[in-house]
Formats: sequence, structure tokens, C-alpha cells
Amino acid sequence: MGFNPISLFLEHISTLAPSRQPAKIRSRNSESIHTPRVTRRLVRVDSKSSDAFTSCWLTNAMQVFDAISTDLACREFDGKPLSNEHIQRILEAGRRCQSGKNLQPWHFIVIRDKAILNRLAGLMKGDMDEPLVRGAPLAIALVSDPSSEFHLIDTGRVAQNMTLAAWELGIGSCFMSGPEPPEREPYRKRAHDFLRIPANLNFVDLMIFGYPKRSRVAKHKKRRDLDRMVSQDTFGKPLSLFQDA
Ligand SMILES: Cc1cc2nc3c(=O)[nH]c(=O)nc-3n(C[C@H](O)[C@H](O)[C@H](O)COP(=O)(O)O)c2cc1C
Repeated sequence: MGFNPISLFLEHISTLAPSRQPAKIRSRNSESIHTPRVTRRLVRVDSKSSDAFTSCWLTNAMQVFDAISTDLACREFDGKPLSNEHIQRILEAGRRCQSGKNLQPWHFIVIRDKAILNRLAGLMKGDMDEPLVRGAPLAIALVSDPSSEFHLIDTGRVAQNMTLAAWELGIGSCFMSGPEPPEREPYRKRAHDFLRIPANLNFVDLMIFGYPKRSRVAKHKKRRDLDRMVSQDTFGKPLSLFQDA
């Protein structure tokens, strides 16, 4: 049977159906409550491939800026396991990330096994992250390949792709970096060995994922103001956009 956009469209919609909706948010300026916008736009991605994930139509997607604005570090989960479809979606978001020279210098280790999660948590030895890892239904260990000079920035982008794709499905996430330095180094070495990561590769960090235990309302993000992090033309020269305001 040839390419059938309608069946692919329907198939893709079924993979997008979120089991949870992200929390409603209150707009900082208007004080009105609104739910992240839902688009009905259909965007053709690739008509040549037969892969339902690449030959898909995007619909009902949360706006990217809404996802960025409402996603908060999520550390407590309701205990429900993530579906295979949702895990696949998160991994796909990582796989599709851009990378320097398209070297894709990354590898992902999916960990759902509670015994392995508990062993990893145990390596953190009393750090505040330890119970968080124990309480997560899913962790993904991000591994990078230092043979690419861009491996850390590329894998950081992977992490952000995964975070946003998860959040679109109502799944919260957080990095788990383990103990503070200098104890972090022994933890990282132990985790590297425990996960059997080859010696030439780099254990970047562990990300935990799950359906949030309670909905947190992102009134506004605790971030420095833009004018404290943006310059114009050269470092430290104020952006005229803010001077005019
Ligand atoms: C590289 C990185 C490492 C992080 N490590 C931890 C961690 O070890 N434990 C933790 O609870 N949160 C960790 N976080 C989450 C941050 O603390 C969180 O993103 C930040 O405080 C902002 O919180 P918010 O997103 O809820 O506004 C990490 C985030 C990043 C990007």
C-alpha cells in the first residue's frame, strides 16, 4: 500500500493525545487564567518517508513558547509509569536534535527498572537528589561523545528537546546532578561504571521524568530580567530596546 497521509495523520493524532494536561497558568500581566494555547494548524513535515514519526502532521501541539514558559523543574511524580508511546516520543525529540556537523554525539540510556533506579540513587549517598531519583518512574542517562568538540552543547540541546516534548505530553522532568562537588566526581565515576558506559564516552547527567504529583502554577519564572543578561553589539552595552521602553 502506498503513502496514505490520512491514515498517518490519524495515527499521529493518536500518539499525540496527552494523558495529562499541563497546569493552567495565570498570565503575569492580565491576571487572567489561560491554558496553554492549542493549535489546530496542520504542518506537513515530510511526505516522502513512510515512517509515521517523520511523515507526520503536527496538530493540537502546545505552542513552543507556552511550553517554555510553563515548564518548571519537576521533582515529585504520581508514581504512574510512562507509556511506551510517551517514552518513544521523548526519545524521538532527542534524536531529532540539531548538532554540530550533524555528528549526533550522544547516546541515551532509558531506565525504568526500579532496582536500577534505586541503585543509581544509592550512589548519590544521602544527597537531596537521592530520594528524587528513587521516586521517579523513568530516568534517562545522557551520554556524550567527546570526540565532537560540540558534545556538551549538543547534548544540552537534546535535554531541552526532551524536556519540552515531555511537557507537551504533561510529563515533568528534571536534571539530577547528584551531590555537590567534590563528592560529585566520585558519584559520576560510580554511575559511569554502574551504567557500563564505555570509558571513551562521557556521562553527562541523569534526567528524571514522570507525571507531576501536583500541578504547579507558573505565575512567572524566577529568572533575572532580560536587561541583565542581554547586551547590544558588544558585551555590556545596553540593548536600546529597553532604553526606549
Ligand atoms: C544542568 C542542570 C542541573 C540540574 N541539577 C539539578 C539537581 O541536581 N537537582 C535538582 O533538584 N534540580 C536540578 N536542576 C533543576 C534546576 O534547579 C532548576 O531548573 C532551576 O532551579 C529552575 O527551576 P524552575 O525550572 O522550577 O524555575 C538542574 C537543572 C539543570 C539545567
